[in-house]
Amino acid sequence: MTHVRLQAGGQRLVLDYRDQSQEFTALWLRERSPDPQTLDPRTGQRLIEAAELPLDLRLESAAAHDGALALHFSDGHRCDFPLRELLEEASDPSRRLWDATGAPSPRADFAAALEDDGALLALLEALHRDGFVLVSGVPAEEDGMRPLIDRIGPLRHTNWGGIADVKSVANAYDLTMTQRGLEPHTDNPYRDPIPGYIWLHCLTNAAEGGDSTLVDGYMAARRLRERDPKAFDCLTRVRPSFRYQDDTTHLESEGPLIELDSGGEPVRVRYSNRTERVPALAPDALDAYFTARRAFHELITGEELTLHLKLDPGQMLIIDNYRLFHGRRAYQLAGGVRHMRQGYVDRDSTASRRRVLRRQAEINARGEPA
Ligand SMILES: [Fe+2]
Repeated sequence: MTHVRLQAGGQRLVLDYRDQSQEFTALWLRERSPDPQTLDPRTGQRLIEAAELPLDLRLESAAAHDGALALHFSDGHRCDFPLRELLEEASDPSRRLWDATGAPSPRADFAAALEDDGALLALLEALHRDGFVLVSGVPAEEDGMRPLIDRIGPLRHTNWGGIADVKSVANAYDLTMTQRGLEPHTDNPYRDPIPGYIWLHCLTNAAEGGDSTLVDGYMAARRLRERDPKAFDCLTRVRPSFRYQDDTTHLESEGPLIELDSGGEPVRVRYSNRTERVPALAPDALDAYFTARRAFHELITGEELTLHLKLDPGQMLIIDNYRLFHGRRAYQLAGGVRHMRQGYVDRDSTASRRRVLRRQAEINARGEPA
């Protein structure tokens, strides 16, 4: 049951639902009013100049009816604001944070996602919800995952090319290509923008070892905040830089290990021991950073948060590189090769595809013409 009330002389609206309540200001509701005078019906883009609305705008009245709020503002404007949109603003229920005990096992089938929009939507929603998805039935060819990338894409091209090898080689230019284990990390924090999603396709795997590990970085950040708020605060403020260098490339970018959104919730994590370069801050600030980083490292390498899985040939992992840490157990090759192929896809195109497919599915469910 949803209940609505006005406060502060009508400058605030409070929505009570289930066991929560959420506060909105009259001005915010006015500039987001979903009516054709305020927002263009076709594009949803704003038609009025929001910065020129009166800063002391009030609500004269607000009443819930038929899944909407009928709002009457002090500048004479009236609109019906769908409750669903307000509740979506209040939280993002589509994300599910996890630890080792509650780890999900999102699965998808390559051929189904390639041919069927509903299956692709399910894959993308699982990826958004859990931060990864394991896809089976990928053709065992070098660029076998490419057709599915092209359904979402575009494939990100870097100095390493498009889809690149991850296998043991002599004189490796990156430690990824040796047989040593890799601690949990995010990929390429030295790029701008940082790759959004990692597509990791297994062509052959080692008989012994070589398991992949995944850790939900948002959950790790939340646990750190609960147990050691000072460390959490430090890692949201200090901005180490990250660097990659070879004969023809010199990439550098910076950012905190835990980056927050405007609501104070983690929106991106970084961890790359191999490429991190902490600035020479004042000794006290460095001491605090090193202590905080150790606490975070203990969390993300501990069994409490670590999910283990082993990719078989023909399987592929898609990993949210802003949210999850991934790693690899050491392995020994007894003659064979461990051959993975890896590509990157950006976040904006992936999220766009998911939203468009969701909108289409909702239109289809209502039986309306597209
Ligand atoms: Fe990696």
